[in-house]
Amino acid sequence: MKTIQQLFDFHHKTIIISGGAGAIGSEAARFLSSLGGNIVLADLNEDKVKQIAADIEKETGNTTLGMKTDFTDETQIAALVDATIAKFGKISAVVNNVGWGANTPYGNLPPKKWSMRISSIPWDLII
Ligand SMILES: NC(=O)c1ccc[n+]([C@@H]2O[C@H](COP(=O)([O-])OP(=O)(O)OC[C@H]3O[C@@H](n4cnc5c(N)ncnc54)[C@H](O)[C@@H]3O)[C@@H](O)[C@H]2O)c1
Repeated sequence: MKTIQQLFDFHHKTIIISGGAGAIGSEAARFLSSLGGNIVLADLNEDKVKQIAADIEKETGNTTLGMKTDFTDETQIAALVDATIAKFGKISAVVNNVGWGANTPYGNLPPKKWSMRISSIPWDLII
């Protein structure tokens, strides 16, 4: 039987987290990185996702990648997969978290944003 440490050992695992600059995505990234994982944070917000990735890498000492990715755009998802493989050699898991939540309240969203929110969901499930 595996010990709890073995079950939660994420060394040699590479995990992509969509919506990685958001409230839940950034904390999931921090947690999984603290358990030893190579974490790839992908988000529409390029500045924020890169900053969070750099902060987490500094905190945990484990390598991260922060990458701008629009999950409504198949080409950008393919580029994310390619960049992840190039840096870490594999993808072990994807945390499908992209969406609009704590930092993006639904109230007052313009129609274009509603449309984006809805169209990002299927791609996120597919990846
Ligand atoms: N916070 C909650 O209490 C809660 C509860 C239930 C479900 N959820 C769901 O969990 C997910 C995350 O919630 P959160 O509170 O962290 O949200 P958040 O608003 O803090 O973060 C969402 C992130 O997704 C990114 N994003 C949106 N569209 C994108 C796209 N097309 N491509 C790439 N990135 C995109 C945003 O830039 C943002 O950084 C959402 O889907 C939300 O609906 C949240």
